[in-house]
Amino acid sequence: MLKGRHLIDPMDFTVEEFDEIFKLADEIIENPEAFSEVCRGKLLATLFYEPSTRTRFSFEAAMLRLGGKVIGFSEPNSSSTAKGESIADTIRTVGCYTDIAVMRHPKEGAPKVASIYSPIPVINAGDGGHQHPTQTLTDLLTIRSLRGNLSNLTIGLCGDLKFGRTVHSLIKAMSRYENNKFILISPKELKAPDYIIKEVLEKNHIPYKEVEKIEDAVGELDILYMTRVQRERFFNEEDYIRLKDSFILNGEKMKQAKKDMMVLHPLPRVNEIAYEVDKDERAFYFTQAKYGMYVRMALIAKLLGVR
Ligand code: CP
Repeated sequence: MLKGRHLIDPMDFTVEEFDEIFKLADEIIENPEAFSEVCRGKLLATLFYEPSTRTRFSFEAAMLRLGGKVIGFSEPNSSSTAKGESIADTIRTVGCYTDIAVMRHPKEGAPKVASIYSPIPVINAGDGGHQHPTQTLTDLLTIRSLRGNLSNLTIGLCGDLKFGRTVHSLIKAMSRYENNKFILISPKELKAPDYIIKEVLEKNHIPYKEVEKIEDAVGELDILYMTRVQRERFFNEEDYIRLKDSFILNGEKMKQAKKDMMVLHPLPRVNEIAYEVDKDERAFYFTQAKYGMYVRMALIAKLLGVR
């Protein structure tokens, strides 16, 4: 039963519950008209303490397409946060006016704190360099829809694996499906954190290796998940400038990839995928962004218990 639950970490939901959401997303994609009124009378709050294009707009579009309404802020200084109000008091108040809340915050754990005090379901829309579970729902729906399965895959994750919250959530979620392998592609400074390597991969005996170049892995991959270097999480600009162009996927590197390898990216892209790759039929990152809206429609409907 998903009604009334929070989604803070991908592991909050079981594989079976993920599947419930994907099946509803399939139904919505098949016949969106049938769902255009299911949230009539319901209100979604978007509390974005950090910039966003895809996550905020796709949640807003999702609620509007379900017949509900949306209120919120994309600039925390326009709310009473600027006067020093705590997350706990903000969510208690927002819960008096709305039925479900989506929160993005630069501090890791902030949406978790909100969920503890909230009278309504809270969805983590990205907390610092920690987790981004609805991006993971998006990624899994994309892979499942376009490849037909979420098992038996060799998945390359490339770029900023240290601060990239989408990568952390994706590894956690994909580790629960059978026979997946991971190749982690990053410079030493941006390697995946220990809690992912030790607590998720090693603890569950999931095969993985770490390499430093796309060329060292691209020929083996079924999925290549590119990420940008997360400028906003660096402590100094010099390190960012030194590392920002570490990995660029271009047409030359795509020649070494399997014919059916999928290139995914949570976006935004900076320059880690050359624009020439966009016309390659293996590039799916904008299709992925579209699946993000459908899976969020399904998630909202499930958490509100509407049908
Ligand atoms: N993928 C993602 O979270 O994009 P935004 O930062 O634009 O929401």
